[in-house]
Amino acid sequence: MIREKVRVKTFKINGVDVTGQSNQTILEVARDNGIEIPTLCHLEGLSCVGSCRMCIVEIKGSREPTPACTAKIKEGIEVTTNSSKIEATRKMILSMMFSERTHTCSTCVANGDCELQNKSVELELQHSQVPYLNKRFEIDASHKNFVNDPNRCILCTRCIRVCDEIEGAHALDLAGRGLSTRIIHDMDEPWADSQSCTSCGKCVYVCPTGALYEKDVSEEEVIKKRGIILELVKNRGKY
Ligand code: FES
Repeated sequence: MIREKVRVKTFKINGVDVTGQSNQTILEVARDNGIEIPTLCHLEGLSCVGSCRMCIVEIKGSREPTPACTAKIKEGIEVTTNSSKIEATRKMILSMMFSERTHTCSTCVANGDCELQNKSVELELQHSQVPYLNKRFEIDASHKNFVNDPNRCILCTRCIRVCDEIEGAHALDLAGRGLSTRIIHDMDEPWADSQSCTSCGKCVYVCPTGALYEKDVSEEEVIKKRGIILELVKNRGKY
């Protein structure tokens, strides 16, 4: 395999000159330069899938918005992260996430500690811009420690990636299509019957919403465990 040489590239973000290495994404260079771009499916240390589209930006000359977490930087491009059009599109995307499943925060275990909820506050989403679809999924509470509630899932696939890339178990995957897509264990077994799940809990602690959660733990414990797992993921390959 021929490896491409890493080169330094200069380009603009919101009119400011920035530099990065050719193997970096727009998101990485933006964050290195203190420019905030909202994300949901992205998690430092895991591969990028660009599924949530929260990080979309405009690139001058391009007709479509581009996900900053997967787009590699290029010499001379002009990136805008905060135009009114981009902000309105992000709000619409967020609205669609809320409308697709049942995100009633007041009855969710993650209420007050949910990235989807935080994002809606950050982006000042006051109400849903599209009708609720109210699709209902069965909850899998078969595992002795954990619960999988697809009604709260935004299909970011962080759980699948952490299980695959960090734990090396690949116990999780996606099943179904479109609105019916959901996270499954093995060949769609109840969680308790999964042969490949190691019960490590990494999937639970990278979940940005209340879709995967641990039974009977205090909020302090959740925060502590999540901190440990996120640090482990971030420092992937350094141990
Ligand atoms: Fe880029 Fe989800 S963070 S698409």
